[in-house]
Amino acid sequence: MASITCIDDLQRLARRRVPRMFYDYADSGSWTESTYRANHEELAALRLRQRVMVDLSDRSLRREMLGEPCSMPLGLAPVGLAGMQHADGEIHAARAAERFGVPFTLSTMSICSIEDVAAHTDRPFWFQLYVMRDRDFTARLIDRARAAGCPALVLTADLQVLGQRHKDIRNGLTVPPKLSVATVANLASKWRWGAGMLRTRRRTFGNIVGHVREASNLESLSGWVASQFDPALSWDDVRRIRDRWDGKLVIKGIMDPRDAVEAVDAGADAILVSNHGGRQLDGAPAAIRALPGVVAAVGDRAEVYMDGGIRSGQDVLKTLASGARGAFIGRAWVYGLGAMGESGVTSALETIRRELDTTLALCGLRDIDDVDEAILWRD
Ligand code: FNR
Repeated sequence: MASITCIDDLQRLARRRVPRMFYDYADSGSWTESTYRANHEELAALRLRQRVMVDLSDRSLRREMLGEPCSMPLGLAPVGLAGMQHADGEIHAARAAERFGVPFTLSTMSICSIEDVAAHTDRPFWFQLYVMRDRDFTARLIDRARAAGCPALVLTADLQVLGQRHKDIRNGLTVPPKLSVATVANLASKWRWGAGMLRTRRRTFGNIVGHVREASNLESLSGWVASQFDPALSWDDVRRIRDRWDGKLVIKGIMDPRDAVEAVDAGADAILVSNHGGRQLDGAPAAIRALPGVVAAVGDRAEVYMDGGIRSGQDVLKTLASGARGAFIGRAWVYGLGAMGESGVTSALETIRRELDTTLALCGLRDIDDVDEAILWRD
């Protein structure tokens, strides 16, 4: 633990410990990866305004997100297959988020099921929904999230078709992994990961297997998933889901102010500005560049969050200064998970909190609620 000073340290450790096909699955964007890179580069290019001689005692990072008290305005974004980065990964991450007092979002494509995560945590988690062509299955997922006590449904809007990620194709990514000679050799070198996987029974898509007839055997599962993402999804579907779901509704994957307005008109309580971590439309701008336009279009009709490229507390602060009520991290927690399980996710959260607190102070502020665009340096 002593040698972890930043998220990059966790990433390096994850690269050593996680089998290549799953590490690459996380550390990749679509096609040329230009949007994946831009997400971080454009955050890094923003400059903060240093202020001094201000009383910096009694600082606070606390803020509510969708009415939920959070120890800092940061949540864990949904990440599919987290349980392949580390055995029982979603449970580890949800527990770390719970201890920390921040929201955890469980992906539809998780390894641990909704019920399983609920059984191992006390703090209600948010559930991310992919709307499948099988609308009965989608409706059942929503009902299961409600039964598990999830306060918020995060509907992902930017994956009607799948962006191509070259590394996944080259690695022949499957769940569970197909055992080619190269894969076996690589898995064998990751003894820590393998020991965890041997101990757990959670090795496939927990929300799906056993809940749809076609996916009852693993051979047909990947085909089922590929055929189930719905290219015909529309705002009418969102309105129907709004009617079925009485909790908070977040629409994730919004980059255009017009779509943000549609989402709010359809009943969204929050918008998550996101380009899916650069994994979908390669050539889309960085999320931080799209954020101010969405904030202006939405006004105070809904909360606006952002994810994409956030690796530090400085990045979180810049996101808040650009108008977001909160920020979400994807890979930052996944690297922590791959590196050290629950304690790695805790380490990622601690790292970001420390950086956020110190950076807030160096900008001459004591309370996260006082952050606005004045802390950004404009030439
Ligand atoms: C994702 N993301 C994602 N989003 C979603 O709505 N459902 C999902 O199942 C997944 N799965 C997924 C897997 C992996 C490996 C990654 C890296 C990302 C996108 C995720 O929620 C978030 O938008 C991005 O990860 C944010 O960018 P950063 O923080 O990873 O740069």
